[in-house]
Amino acid sequence: MSKDISAVDALSPTAKELLAWKGPGLAAWRSRRHCLDTTTTTKDELAAVLATAAICRQVMDRQEPPLTILANKIVANLFYENSTRTKSSFELAARRLGATVINLDINTSSVAKGETLIDTAATLIAMGANALVQRHADSGSAHLLAESLGRQAHIINAGDGLHAHPSQGFLDHLTLVDELGDLKNKKIAIVGDLSHSRVARSNIALLNLVGADVHVCAPPTLMPADIASLQVKYHINLEAAIENADIVMVLRMQLERQSQGLIPSIGEYKKLYRMDHNRLKLAKPGAKVMHPGPVNRGVEITHEIADDERVSLLRTQVRNGVAVRMAILYLLLYNSEA
Ligand code: CP
Repeated sequence: MSKDISAVDALSPTAKELLAWKGPGLAAWRSRRHCLDTTTTTKDELAAVLATAAICRQVMDRQEPPLTILANKIVANLFYENSTRTKSSFELAARRLGATVINLDINTSSVAKGETLIDTAATLIAMGANALVQRHADSGSAHLLAESLGRQAHIINAGDGLHAHPSQGFLDHLTLVDELGDLKNKKIAIVGDLSHSRVARSNIALLNLVGADVHVCAPPTLMPADIASLQVKYHINLEAAIENADIVMVLRMQLERQSQGLIPSIGEYKKLYRMDHNRLKLAKPGAKVMHPGPVNRGVEITHEIADDERVSLLRTQVRNGVAVRMAILYLLLYNSEA
């Protein structure tokens, strides 16, 4: 019998459905142990996230009580950078699977006394944490935790510097598949502050995996230096990037990371790159707009687009975030020894 549940018969129909899902990606996730980026994600693993997230979403859609399948697990949130969506949705996701959640408040923790990242994480593991959900300004910090402590706990990267934000990539992918079905050859335009965007990198890896036609667009100073290696078509001109696109994904202008003055002015950026209804007419009829949030209203996207339910998928993305994070926690933690 599973260590995570005492009696399968006592489980809700949704929990039973989740446990009954046995696609090939299940074993792959179990042996992977961590969720660090999407660059090595396989089609089976992606399919596992999408399928189990669709089941998990029923808990919200039907307003079901929390499942109990991770009732003996502890999930610790360590957010060294600010977050609304990712932190709250990992907490909700863990609770909806029955897990206990620790939200470490970094500002009032012993980090302020100089405790290292690894010592802080090890302390939480010593208290019984089975998974650490970590956001940090340093690229590679999640990999560092996995190398140092990954035998004792599952490490989930909730965004590390400019590198990766895998759960955002998965939730965006679920949103895209719900909207467009098979993404092969679908034109997905990703526009905005690419050089600082871990979201774009995590999305691009998954979109390339399924054969989407990925176009990216940024001002020259916000184009990543390694763009040629990302296997996408890249544009300086917004109109060319979004022409005939099936979906336009707008990125946040990361004002907090603009200390080098990479754009002449916000006014010029808005003039050339802000997504509005007029520009959206260049995309396919019915094309919708995504944005990972938080939104700089009026900078990279107009109020009118952000709030237009006919074209905006922003709230859907947030909702899918809870389901996808339930799926990730389930795939990694259920029946795990860690
Ligand atoms: N998209 C995203 O990562 O949002 P938060 O910073 O609010 O978590």
